Amino acid sequence: MVDSMSNDTDTVIASAPSNIALIKYWGKSDATLNWPANDSLSMTLSRAATTTMARINRAAINSTEHSHDLSLGHLLAFGDSFDNCLRVRDMTKPRLFLERLRAELKPWIKNDGPLEIVTKNSFPSACGIASSASGYAALTVAAVGVWTGQHTMAGLETVGISRDLIAAWARMGSGSACRSIHGGFVHWLRGETAANQKCRQLFDCSHWPLADLIVLIDGKHKQVSSTEGHARAFSSPLMNVRLAGAGERMKSLLNALENKDLEKLGDIIEAEALEMHAVMMTATQPTRYFTDKTVEFLCWLRQQRSIGSIPAWFTVDAGPNPHLICLPEHSQKISSQIKAQFPEFSIISDCTGSGAALPGFMPESREDQIDGH
Ligand code: PMV
Repeated sequence: MVDSMSNDTDTVIASAPSNIALIKYWGKSDATLNWPANDSLSMTLSRAATTTMARINRAAINSTEHSHDLSLGHLLAFGDSFDNCLRVRDMTKPRLFLERLRAELKPWIKNDGPLEIVTKNSFPSACGIASSASGYAALTVAAVGVWTGQHTMAGLETVGISRDLIAAWARMGSGSACRSIHGGFVHWLRGETAANQKCRQLFDCSHWPLADLIVLIDGKHKQVSSTEGHARAFSSPLMNVRLAGAGERMKSLLNALENKDLEKLGDIIEAEALEMHAVMMTATQPTRYFTDKTVEFLCWLRQQRSIGSIPAWFTVDAGPNPHLICLPEHSQKISSQIKAQFPEFSIISDCTGSGAALPGFMPESREDQIDGH
């Protein structure tokens, strides 16, 4: 149970889904502030999510040694114990982030103090499902909620903290986290100044519900972090070509989304993903996120699509695991077709979702979500 020194207002639970970038954020124009080199556009997911509990650590308020603490939890519920959670060993980045967030929040803080955080993903982390996106989005909402004493999204709105503002704060933790604050289809616009950094919802999730089948080819942690990948991108001769074509590609994707043209959207996202990976493979320190199995799978998928058997299109983030975008009514059959051909792969069946939530929801167990184990 939560210890006797804390009370109900000291604890909040927030949730945030992951998002899949249809046009990728790859390369930063400012690495400290996470300003992107190009606009990106994503679909917010529903089931692949992080749930985070934040509690003011009253016992540590007057201690100089103890600052924010972060654990990877098991079961999360109001009143759950913080004992028996796995402590995160390297707290440098999240602590720095929480201190920057606390400084930004100064005018709103009602309930100050160091935080104890427990966080849980509903999916394996660091393998190309944007865990830093959902992780930093949920951490931001939980910390903002507990420090301001506002425990609902509506409450935050009433004190002038909009989703756009929360998105701008989440971006300081991980760029792609800003897009997970909003639901549906989200556009993060490149800007040269802090004021120009806009992340806005283009369509809510009712506009065009799509399925995302996340094919888990390899659950191992990736060798090159996306932070390192962003930095390496500029050494590729293809990066300038990529940036020069970014505006046109965005226009075409906006058009496909508006008209709900899946084939057009599919062609754009495949070209986009392959271009990002080509940039990585041609960097001075070449980086290959694909495994041989990824390549085999993508070739098979294209071949199946060419004979009219699988109406799905892929995108791949900084990892080996493809996301297949298709219509929800086709997802179950496609999932069975994949399992018949590649029984060793697991599949997370996800779909368009509605963004960060406060109060958050209890995470579903991983086993419930992943087919194929
Ligand atoms: O937010 P970061 O620094 O983890 O970068 C995310 C990069 C990609 O996932 C590959 C693309 C994207 O836009 O989400």
